[in-house]
Amino acid sequence: MAGNKTFTMIKPDAVAENHIGGITQMIEEGGFRIVAMKKTRLSEERAGKFYEVHKERPFYGDLVKYMSSGPIVAMILEKDNAVEDFRKLIGATNPADAAEGTIRKKYAKSIEANAVHGSDSDENAQIEGDFFFAADERF
Ligand code: PPS
Repeated sequence: MAGNKTFTMIKPDAVAENHIGGITQMIEEGGFRIVAMKKTRLSEERAGKFYEVHKERPFYGDLVKYMSSGPIVAMILEKDNAVEDFRKLIGATNPADAAEGTIRKKYAKSIEANAVHGSDSDENAQIEGDFFFAADERF
């Protein structure tokens, strides 16, 4: 059975352009409950660790630089079938392919500056949530 939690980050471009409110509104209106939420900035080292699974991919260095270039907002979200439903809500990785009504269609600027991250599996949602939040920061 699919899990009921996922993890997201509002990425530096969307935070810098004051879209935290617009994006969290779409998340809540999409039926997700915010369990944990934190505005923080990743060092290059921490961003490198977070995206370690993509280490061999050609864009890894750019991705790590970009994700440490300014503050992000990390969140754990709750909903039935959370991982899959959230990936539907955010839309395709490349905003050129993102469907109407998705967060990336509205807020993403490019495949790098694509406004939000969403976990790709229940296992990664757990790992990524644990990367940012202690047990007493989740409600
Ligand atoms: S996904 O979500 O894993 O299916 O997408 P994927 O295409 O595998 O991309 C993984 C993350 O890498 C980012 N990405 C890029 N960053 C910079 N430049 C290029 N060309 C690029 N291509 C992909 C993409 O936004 C994904 O970031 P997250 O934070 O996981 O959404």
